[in-house]
Amino acid sequence: MKRFALLVAGVLIAGSGLLAWPASSAEPADIIAARRANQKRVGEIAKSIDAGLLNKSSAAAMVDLVKELDDRAKLIKGYFPEGTQTGDTKARPEIWTDRAGFNAAADAYVAEFDKLLVIAQAGDTAAFGPQFEKAASTCGACHRQFRQR
Ligand code: HEC
Repeated sequence: MKRFALLVAGVLIAGSGLLAWPASSAEPADIIAARRANQKRVGEIAKSIDAGLLNKSSAAAMVDLVKELDDRAKLIKGYFPEGTQTGDTKARPEIWTDRAGFNAAADAYVAEFDKLLVIAQAGDTAAFGPQFEKAASTCGACHRQFRQR
């Protein structure tokens, strides 16, 4: 099985911490910081799941990680409002010029991690690895189109 690092090539993972959803009145810089913190945490969780697979953890043992990732995946569409195109960000302008394309990438991401959560909750260890690989491929698919290198 391809390792997760190959699927999300170029992604940097460091630090940790919970994030607060920015208020609608939040400054663009705060929204950018919050979305990056969310993505960073998503990266950490994905690495933990990958490590779990390497250690032959059961699907049931992954439920909490998958639930958190899935919850955070559902936030992504709201994290790119007008005014957050520039600043300390690697978001590509295509997010704003091709919103339908960006939303489709986000929907595919959520759909595949929703499926992974169902598999984890069912304790289906055989199905877990292949579905994780499929779900993780949606990360790279979006990054290739909508994230600067
Ligand atoms: C729908 C698009 C999309 C999907 C799906 C997506 N990302 Fe991202 N990701 C982005 C964008 C855009 C950025 C850049 C955000 C910025 O710099 O403002 C980013 C940034 C990141 C970062 C860097 C955070 C930082 O420290 O600045 C990591 C790590 C990351 N994503 C991991 C993942 C992982 C792992 C997945 C899948 C489990 C994933 N992403 C799915 C669009 C996406």
